[in-house]
Amino acid sequence: MLQHSTTLVVGLLAQLAACKHSHGSSMNHAVFATRADNQSLGYRNPSWSVADRVDDLLSRMTLEEKAGQMFQDSIAIGTNYTLSEKTPPGYPIDLNSTENMVGEKHMTHFNLLSPIDNAGKVAGWYNLLQQRALDTRLGIPISLSSDPRHHEADTFGASLSPGVFSQWPESLGLAALRDPKLVETFAEIARQEYLAVGLRSSLHPQVDLATEPRWARIYSVWGEEAELTAELIVAYIKGFQGEEFGVNSVSTVTKHFPGGGPVENGEDSHFVYGKNQTYPGNNFDYHLIPFKAAIKAGARQIMPYYSRPIGTEYEEVAFGFNKGIITDLLQNELGFEGIVLTDWTLLSDRILFGLPFPARAWGMEDKTEHERVLKIMEAGCDQLGGENRPELLVDLVNQGLVPETRLDHSVRKLLKEKFLLGLFDNPFLDTEAADKVVGNPEFQRIADETQRQSFTLLSNKNDLLPMQKEASGSAVYIEGLNQTTVEARGFKVVATPEEADWAFLRLAAPFEVRNGTLSEYMSFQQGSLEFKAAERARQAAIYKAVPTIVDIKLDRPVAIPEVVEQAAAVFGTFGASGDAFLDIVLGEAEPLGKLPFDLPRSDKAVEAQKEDVPFDTVDPLFKFGHGLRYSKA
Ligand SMILES: *[C@@H]1O[C@H](CO)[C@@H](O)[C@H](O)[C@H]1NC(C)=O
Ligand SMILES: *[C@@H]1O[C@H](CO)[C@@H](O)[C@H](O)[C@H]1NC(C)=O
Ligand SMILES: *[C@@H]1O[C@H](CO)[C@@H](O)[C@H](O)[C@H]1NC(C)=O
Ligand SMILES: *[C@@H]1O[C@H](CO)[C@@H](O)[C@H](O)[C@H]1NC(C)=O
Ligand SMILES: *[C@@H]1O[C@H](CO)[C@@H](O)[C@H](O)[C@H]1NC(C)=O
Ligand SMILES: *[C@@H]1O[C@H](CO)[C@@H](O)[C@H](O)[C@H]1NC(C)=O
Repeated sequence: MLQHSTTLVVGLLAQLAACKHSHGSSMNHAVFATRADNQSLGYRNPSWSVADRVDDLLSRMTLEEKAGQMFQDSIAIGTNYTLSEKTPPGYPIDLNSTENMVGEKHMTHFNLLSPIDNAGKVAGWYNLLQQRALDTRLGIPISLSSDPRHHEADTFGASLSPGVFSQWPESLGLAALRDPKLVETFAEIARQEYLAVGLRSSLHPQVDLATEPRWARIYSVWGEEAELTAELIVAYIKGFQGEEFGVNSVSTVTKHFPGGGPVENGEDSHFVYGKNQTYPGNNFDYHLIPFKAAIKAGARQIMPYYSRPIGTEYEEVAFGFNKGIITDLLQNELGFEGIVLTDWTLLSDRILFGLPFPARAWGMEDKTEHERVLKIMEAGCDQLGGENRPELLVDLVNQGLVPETRLDHSVRKLLKEKFLLGLFDNPFLDTEAADKVVGNPEFQRIADETQRQSFTLLSNKNDLLPMQKEASGSAVYIEGLNQTTVEARGFKVVATPEEADWAFLRLAAPFEVRNGTLSEYMSFQQGSLEFKAAERARQAAIYKAVPTIVDIKLDRPVAIPEVVEQAAAVFGTFGASGDAFLDIVLGEAEPLGKLPFDLPRSDKAVEAQKEDVPFDTVDPLFKFGHGLRYSKA
């Protein structure tokens, strides 16, 4: 069925292009007249080469305007789709006003924190934002970026709910299907939805390797195997950027260099207790394999992680401050010439969920903000993420500590990106086209099919599944499913396992809450991969009472031997709807997933693993690649 999708995507793309054209000519230029229309200035003239336009614009910029380009902070849509004046209600982080950042600080790069709840209205807000940028002295247009928005996970600072975008399984679910063509189809669709609302840079793909099963960010990687990750992200980058980078592209940010997987004890370096990254297996180079593939595939931007390397040849400062990592390894050795964008907030202490959130300046905690900026410049980064402090960089130039030519080097890359994306020549969106493209039923149909296929069948005692059609008249006990959805399939939903013929449990993976660290508010799932004793006992009573079909969300490689032993059948999934679950259980679609990582047997086995080494868990419960089929062909 998926083979039709490529044609379909191309068809929609053509439709969108046609739409753009017809609206382009009718678009009201009286409303949108801008300084950018003035072709008597070289950089505004589309007939000039990109290189000449960059040179011309750079030669007109003040130091402050250059510094502004080198900061990218978060931005929110204001109340009723206006430009936000202060942090709008519902945002957990302190945000500067749009006017402050665009008008006073000369910033033109932002990542959007707001939900895409109405494509046309978001596109309308985007047009207001562009108009404000084009009304500045030089009229440099805005570049908008986003964390992933096409999957179930909603983790503050790492991923957002789809809103009106099409909803797919997490990247791990795409990895479970191991089909580069499908990954490209996903990326092409996501690109069209991004483009429709003005998102021109993706703060993904996340190509870190799941070699440490406890790490809280595994849910949005591509598994444990470097070559598979490399193969799939090449397709991903192609889908977002296109064959050739240009006016229909989304610029991808591959992260987190040099691979964020080997975090000490599986903690995460957003947090002070997880700042270290470690290589007890001397396996540093394994984590570079996907980055090498991304660079070869034309990745435009790369983001280093928060972690600092411990016990390697590199300085023990976070990767964004690390000259050995950025200049020597990434740029000189691997030949990356694109934009290096730091992860968010390496400089400034912020307020998050009303609590202090210190800068993630690991290894640089006792340095001043100026010293941190200097170190980031010396490391070779081009842009500071999650910051709006260009005045610090201006001070460093005025003090003679950073030459202005160093800014020119980075600003040149950043401006070139805007010209190539066509932002100077075509800065506005068609709000009606946005509504047509975003979340259209064809996109969601392909996404739903992918959700179903990504189900990974771990166990199926006595070939119980798929259920016979007549089973759908029976009584079921449910958890994690909507009663209406289940009843729509003919089942009778009952209140206790004892009354039921079957139980359907859709379980979240186990994790530990660490209060007092902010991680509890950010939904980071960390620590133990086992269910606690009380939860085990609760589940065991259900498994004993009635044949139970379990679906566990594998946002990390869980250790659940007791579930597999006691339940009638067990699926691992990666973000799928209740309808997808019922389709699979009733045999209306076949589960086609294969595990993208080993499933360990216990926390004890995980603790014995080396953080940087893949496939070193002793006696895994299931191996990478495991996934049963219904048909025995
Ligand atoms: C175009 O730019 C030139 C040179 O800066 C200026 O003299 C002229 O007034 C501008 N025209 C418009 C319509 O902005
Ligand atoms: C937002 O729009 C609604 C409906 O037009 C209006 O009632 C409300 O006052 C507006 N809110 C603000 C803050 O402008
Ligand atoms: C914006 O940023 C400056 C620091 O550059 C800060 O002093 C100010 O309070 C911030 N807030 C707003 C709402 O602009
Ligand atoms: C990180 O590594 C350093 C140096 O080995 C060590 O002192 C520290 O305890 C480690 N852990 C954390 C959380 O800093
Ligand atoms: C269950 O699904 C129905 C129909 O889609 C919906 O109206 C209802 O709000 C859902 N219930 C819950 C608890 O999500
Ligand atoms: C931990 O924090 C969460 C979220 O604020 C709260 O619901 C929970 O009660 C806290 N637990 C403990 C043990 O403090």
